[in-house]
Formats: sequence, structure tokens, C-alpha cells
Amino acid sequence: MPQVIFVHPDGRQDAIEIAVGASVMQGATQHGIEEILAECGGNAMCATCHVYVDDEQIGRLVPMSENEDALLDGTAAERQPTSRLACQIEVTPALDGLLVRLPDRQT
Ligand code: FES
Repeated sequence: MPQVIFVHPDGRQDAIEIAVGASVMQGATQHGIEEILAECGGNAMCATCHVYVDDEQIGRLVPMSENEDALLDGTAAERQPTSRLACQIEVTPALDGLLVRLPDRQT
């Protein structure tokens, strides 16, 4: 399974294997990554699954939808150029080794 590396605000890292076809959000919540709240359950309505994708890896992701773009304007932690919603990142074999940083707050 592809591995996604989560970097906590304090610098700790968790490398988690996530099934192809699942979202990065689903992998995070199933493995107890507490910084991902995912209040809407992955329906792109809450923005509490905000992550910062590693600068050098942002190009590995498919472009975001207009809806994701609009939701990212309402994140609790500051939006950055590499901000994405974890529920909108579908894990594929090509994303093995993806590194995402977790914001210090989601609400
Ligand atoms: S889980 Fe709600 S927007 Fe991603």
C-alpha cells in the first residue's frame, strides 16, 4: 500500500499505509491522526481536514476543484499555496511517499 507521511505541528512524523482509492483523510482518521477532524465525513463541506502538502510534492497531486478552492479560504489555520483538503486527495500508487504537514488547528 502507498505510504503517506504526516508531520505533526511539533515535528513528530507518522508514516501510514493507506489503501489505494481511499482518501488521505480516511487514512489519517483510521490511524488516529488527531489533527484531522473531518467533521463533514469527507464531503468537502467543513475544511477541518486541512493539510499542507510538502512544497516539492504539490505537483504530484491532481488540481483542486473550485469547491475545494473555495473551502480552503475558510480554514482555521492560515491558507498557504500548498494547502489542500485531505478528503479530496485520493491515494494512488503514484502518491507513495507523499508528505503532508498538519496545521496547528482546524477550528
Ligand atoms: S472532511 Fe470535511 S472538507 Fe474534508
